[in-house]
Amino acid sequence: MKNILITGWTWYIWSHAAVAFIQKWYNVIIVDSLVNSSEKVLDKIYEITDVRPIFYNLDLRDKDLLENIFKSHNIDWVIHFAALKAVWESCQDPISYYDNNINWTISLLDLMLKYSVNKIVFSSSATVYSSENNSPLKETDSLDCTNPYGYTKLVIEKLLKWITDHKPLKSICLRYFNPIWAHSSWLIGETPNWIPNNLLPYIMDVVSWKRELLNVYGNDYDTYDWTWVRDYIHIQDLIQWHLGAYTLLENTGIDKYFDVFNLGTGNWTSVLDMIKMTQDITWKEIKYKVVPRRAWDLAQVYCDPKKANEILWWKAVYDVNQAIKDSYNFILKSISY
Ligand code: NAD
Ligand code: WQD
Repeated sequence: MKNILITGWTWYIWSHAAVAFIQKWYNVIIVDSLVNSSEKVLDKIYEITDVRPIFYNLDLRDKDLLENIFKSHNIDWVIHFAALKAVWESCQDPISYYDNNINWTISLLDLMLKYSVNKIVFSSSATVYSSENNSPLKETDSLDCTNPYGYTKLVIEKLLKWITDHKPLKSICLRYFNPIWAHSSWLIGETPNWIPNNLLPYIMDVVSWKRELLNVYGNDYDTYDWTWVRDYIHIQDLIQWHLGAYTLLENTGIDKYFDVFNLGTGNWTSVLDMIKMTQDITWKEIKYKVVPRRAWDLAQVYCDPKKANEILWWKAVYDVNQAIKDSYNFILKSISY
């Protein structure tokens, strides 16, 4: 059985990846500092898969402890999810974001080279695209960022490219557009440790009466209903592309490999569409008020997913309605626990 090291693991994307890879008979080893997560999700992963992954609670910046993991397990490859990811927070505290997101990646890559672990899939982001581009965004479009968080992703993409030019490392950067919510078991989903930053988790807080109303960040954009449009992608589609990325890295005969892929649907949904769809599904009123724009927001962000569809052997099958339904059911199930 092959060992995968997953950095960052619990509530959101990682937990779904852990389930998918356990179900494909990989041995999953997880490292997370629990800064935005909780060990409780191990029980949920066990409930879904009958397997409890090996878990290390450590900050990836602690290189000595990280090295012990490389010594103790014969790791075949790495999925590197761990990151701080709140755009607004990165604008207020860029040093923490550079320190956290970049330094631990350097430690990780250094150890991978030292222990001859030659495959890595890295979670990048749509934020790396320059605001000069027009959607649908293609992988070849120009890169730049409106915020420090995005820059940390760009720096790591470049670092991976430079390393793979000279060292035996195979890497794939997956640029997620707007991933959303819960597993179809409704046992794991997005439950941040703080006030949600992203749209659907915030709407779900309004649906479950944790918050009174949603702030809609502007309604004076050049879009069809004047609110922002985004390319929302169901978490289970997102994870299928990770399986495809691993298969590609495993099968390519080249020992130095680098590529980037957009992960999205190619479709878009506005903020008002999202509110309306959620109301229709939940039969709950979503109160909202329009407030000023956020400094980093771009009006239209959606991708051309053709490259991932063809080369990573997956095309999105879930739509936004399904994602809202899964998210709502996850919330209902969490409340009843
Ligand atoms: P998340 O906050 O749920 O998970 C991040 C995990 O990293 C958390 O479990 C946190 O505890 C862990 N972590 C943070 N700092 C750590 C450290 N120093 N050492 C060890 N663990 C640490 O985020 P998510 O939404 O699941 O995002 C996963 C990845 O996908 C991130 O790299 C993020 O940048 C990227 N991404 C997310 C989105 C999105 O909208 N959710 C979009 C594009 C890209
Ligand atoms: C979606 C839309 C908001 C919250 C960010 C990062 C991106 C990626 C995904 C990590 C926007 C509007 C939101 C609210 C609102 N993350 N909105 N009220 O900004 O597209 O992308 O998360 O890599 O890199 O930039 O996602 O969910 O925050 O916002 O009106 O309370 O909803 O203005 O148009 P965003 P989001």
